[in-house]
Amino acid sequence: MRTPLIVGNWKMHGTLGEARALATALRDGLKRPGRVEVAVCPPYTALAAVGEILAGSPIALGAQNCHHAPSGPHTGEIAPPMLVELGCRFVICGHSERRRELGETDEQIRLKVAAALGHDLTPILCVGETGDERRQGLTFTTVEGQLRAGLAGLEPAALGRCVLAYEPVWAIGTGLNATPAQAAEVHGYLRGLLSEVSSKETAQSMRILYGGSVKGDNADVLLAEHEIDGALVGGASLAAPGFIAIVRKAARGAASRGE
Ligand code: PGA
Repeated sequence: MRTPLIVGNWKMHGTLGEARALATALRDGLKRPGRVEVAVCPPYTALAAVGEILAGSPIALGAQNCHHAPSGPHTGEIAPPMLVELGCRFVICGHSERRRELGETDEQIRLKVAAALGHDLTPILCVGETGDERRQGLTFTTVEGQLRAGLAGLEPAALGRCVLAYEPVWAIGTGLNATPAQAAEVHGYLRGLLSEVSSKETAQSMRILYGGSVKGDNADVLLAEHEIDGALVGGASLAAPGFIAIVRKAARGAASRGE
């Protein structure tokens, strides 16, 4: 059975002082989160400090991006071994904000996913359609292209170590979440594709998170969907009580399903 995973994506928010305060509140509020895995992805500048605060706690550390090379002349970039050194276990790859604002391509994202796996980081590969694509009936075409490109060339065992995040672009930071039925439909489609590119068993074991305006008051209905294995949370991960509420709902949902 899949253990739910709740990931906080702090994006470009938080001075060091703010990040320390948030990490401390999460550590103190989530001493025993229950049957749920939890991770936070602070900005690079706060990774070391947050990592120290969370050391020994059940909350894992993740990064919001990485370069694919282990080192080299790439001004402004951060390599996977640097993240590992700070205690990161996860790295978000291909977030739609980076695809859109920085022009990240499917090929760059594929390289990042492979590099993360090569350094024992768990990549969280983000896929999702824009509002226009949904209106034009292109949702499945878009996410299929992103999934196939992002995971291309991986050995089945490596592929099985990835986490997928379905984040409809129109739902990110807008307060407009996908309905549970809309999300579950795409998650089911993605799991079918995972079966094709790996095996049915691998696909069944992989977690597919939903992201896009997840909050304390919509988390239960989204997470009640069998196909939704957790959440990638942006805005609502910036205040400890809200994020803790989402984690608790995920744990209760998993317990009630006997997972
Ligand atoms: P949001 O962001 O929860 O603020 O919509 C989610 C994300 O971009 O990962």
